[in-house]
Amino acid sequence: MKRLILARISHRFPTATTLCRTLPGFHSVSALDIVSTMPAHASVAKASQGATYRRLATKIGEICGLVLVVISLWLAGPALAKQGDAENGAQVYAKRCVWCHGEEGDGEGPAAERLNPPPRDFTAAQYKIKTTAFDDDFANDDNMFRMIRDGMPATAMPGWNDVLSEQEMWDLVWYIKTVAGLEEEELGADMDYGTQIESSPESIARGKQLFLEDDRCLECHGKEGKGDALKGLKDDSGFRTWPRNLTKPWTFRASNDPRDIFARISTGIPGTQMPAFGAPASDKS
Ligand code: HEC
Ligand code: HEC
Repeated sequence: MKRLILARISHRFPTATTLCRTLPGFHSVSALDIVSTMPAHASVAKASQGATYRRLATKIGEICGLVLVVISLWLAGPALAKQGDAENGAQVYAKRCVWCHGEEGDGEGPAAERLNPPPRDFTAAQYKIKTTAFDDDFANDDNMFRMIRDGMPATAMPGWNDVLSEQEMWDLVWYIKTVAGLEEEELGADMDYGTQIESSPESIARGKQLFLEDDRCLECHGKEGKGDALKGLKDDSGFRTWPRNLTKPWTFRASNDPRDIFARISTGIPGTQMPAFGAPASDKS
C-alpha cells in the first residue's frame, strides 16, 4: 500500500513550478516537500542503538504513514467527473447564480456592473482555470466542478461546498455546459504534469533566472513579482486587469499548490494576458 502511494507521489512535476517559490511571501511547504524528507525515517531506524531511538523511529514512521495517507487523498484531487442533470442544475442556477451570472448565463446579472473581475459569461464557453492541454480550447468537467465547489479567491465568486450538495454542483456543471453548447463536446483530459523536481536552493535559483531572463515573467509581474510592471492592462473583453501580485499567493484563483501553479504557467489564463508557456510556438517558452 505504502509502496503504491509512494510511487504515485514520486511521479513528480517539472521545473517551472519552482518559479513562483523564489518570491517573497511564498513559503508554503508543499506536500511533496514533506515527502522528500521521508527517507530520514528509514535512516533514523538504522542508526538508532537504544530503545529510545527505536521508539522515536516508530513514532516518525507512524507520522509518515499518516502524511502519506493525507497526501494520497490530496493527489486524488477532485472527484471524477459525474453525470449531472442539467434541468435540476437550471433550477439551482436560478436560485443561486443569476444575481451575478445573469438569467441567460451571459454574465450580465444585476450585481455584475459593480464587479471586477466580472462574473463569467457562460455563453462564451471560456474558463480561466483549466487543466486541459494548452492547445485544448475548453476546460473539462472537473475544472468547472472545482471552481463551483471552491470558488475563486480574491474575486466575488463564492465557493458552494457548504451550501449545495455534490450532486447539485454536478447538475450545475451540466447546466452551464448546456448554456455554453458544450454538452455534446468530448472534453479534454488533464494535461501531462511531467515529473516534478524537488525544491532546493538550486531549483529556486534556476526558477528565479527563468522568471527574470528575457523579461519572461518580469515584463508583467515585475522584478519583485508584485504585479506592478504593466499599467492599464485590459483582458480580452476589455475589462481592466492586473498581473497577479505573486507575493500574495492566497489570491491565486486556483490555489498556490505547485500543481496548480504549474498548470497556470503551462496553459495560461484564457481570456487574459497571462500567456501559455507550455505552447512550443510561444516566444516566451
Ligand atoms: C456574487 C457573485 C457571484 C455569484 C453569486 C456566483 N458567481 Fe460564479 N463567478 C463570479 C465572478 C466574479 C467570476 C469570475 C472570477 C474571475 O474572473 O477571476 C465567476 C466565475 C465563475 C466560473 C468560472 C470559472 C473559471 O475557471 O473561469 C464558474 C464556472 C462559475 N462562476 C459558476 C458559478 C455558479 C454555478 C454559481 C451559482 C451556484 C455562481 N458562479 C455564483 C461571481 C459570482
Ligand atoms: C503579458 C503579461 C504576463 C506575463 C508575461 C506573465 N504573466 Fe502571469 N499573469 C498575468 C495576468 C494579467 C494575470 C492575472 C489574470 C487574471 O486572472 O485576470 C497573471 C496571473 C498569474 C498567476 C496567478 C495564477 C492564479 O491561479 O491566479 C501566476 C502564478 C502567474 N501569472 C505566473 C507567471 C509566471 C511564472 C510567468 C512567467 C513564466 C508569468 N506569469 C508571465 C500576466 C502575465
